[in-house]
Amino acid sequence: MRLAGRRILLIISGGIAAYKALELIRAIRAEGGAVTPVLTRAAQQFITPLSAAALAESRALVDLFDLTDEAEMGHIRLSRASDLLLVCPASADILARMAAGLADDLATTLLLATDKPVMVAPAMNVRMWDHPATRANVATLKARGVHVIEPATGPMACGEHGPGRLPDVPLLVEALVAHFGAKTGPLAGRHAIVTAGPTHEPIDPVRYIANRSSGKQGFAMAAALAALGARVTLVAGPVALATPPGVVRHDVTTAQEMAAAVEAALPADLAVMVAAVADWRVERAPAKIKKGPGGPPELKLVENPDILAQVAAPGARRPRLVVGFAAETEEVVAHAVAKLGRKGCDLVVANDVSGDVMGGDRNLVHLVSVDGVETFPEGTKEEVAARLARRFAEWLHG
Ligand code: C5P
Repeated sequence: MRLAGRRILLIISGGIAAYKALELIRAIRAEGGAVTPVLTRAAQQFITPLSAAALAESRALVDLFDLTDEAEMGHIRLSRASDLLLVCPASADILARMAAGLADDLATTLLLATDKPVMVAPAMNVRMWDHPATRANVATLKARGVHVIEPATGPMACGEHGPGRLPDVPLLVEALVAHFGAKTGPLAGRHAIVTAGPTHEPIDPVRYIANRSSGKQGFAMAAALAALGARVTLVAGPVALATPPGVVRHDVTTAQEMAAAVEAALPADLAVMVAAVADWRVERAPAKIKKGPGGPPELKLVENPDILAQVAAPGARRPRLVVGFAAETEEVVAHAVAKLGRKGCDLVVANDVSGDVMGGDRNLVHLVSVDGVETFPEGTKEEVAARLARRFAEWLHG
């Protein structure tokens, strides 16, 4: 019941994702939160006030004159009687009206009149999301302190593919939980360090060696640990991902910088090393290497620090639980078992990256410990992260 006692004014705007708002109402209620639904006119083309009201067990409001006590400034009271205003899904249209400060219906009037935090979960066609007008509106809203839940990437109802999808309902709930800083849960009071993403190893001032890691699994891991109440330090290589709510992020570029940032973040109760750290760096040339008659240059590779092995080494500052990830293309489990011993960590999450896992949205993992191997059902990276986070919490309590 991580949202117990929280009152959420849920503004549902028009869009195919509006049906997910119904699921969201149910999920917020399951966490103990109260929901007052407000539907825009466009939203009512997709779902009905009656279904929203039934799930919320609260009247659903659709226009200003629903507030019978409007003479007593009901819209102002309503917008301030909640702990949070959540616009979900937020269409391009309502984002534009919010940015412009319009108050031409109940939803926008409430948004303009409130003194409470506002969160938006945009969902729209990828071109609408990428349009400079929407980009500018989102930037304006962010600058005003509106919390934007970044849309997910994937296939859309319109048949196109890209960012613009409403994140899955469990993720929306985690964003709410993180917003309220619910430092309750099985990892409350624990500090977790998570590494994520690739590293870039410079060859010279303009070139570098990299890998295809997107950082998605590591970011999902950080979000899932925070949702269980942990204080999370996320050390991220170069990726274009939004920081999960409630997570403290340190951006780094190279493996050496990542090692230093992890060291600086210690002590911790658990360390989850998801990053695809480059095994080697290049002896960096001080100036841009030129083509010349001598043929291609020879790059001298130097071994990078093994961050996981360093963190897992015995010592007073070793976290109680150290977890490594193993991306393998063959003999996935066998290699993971070997890695347990070699790196000195407690658990290894083995994932098969022979398919399109790297950069993709789904993952299939095996959790390997000295006690055996547990294979998780295939799922989104968020689902996998949530399941792993629960296991880590059990491990720490065990
Ligand atoms: O040895 P391998 O690269 O397969 O090990 C993968 C695991 O070790 C991952 O958890 C990764 O984050 C970690 N690692 C590290 N520092 C390195 C190389 C790998 O922390 N230099």
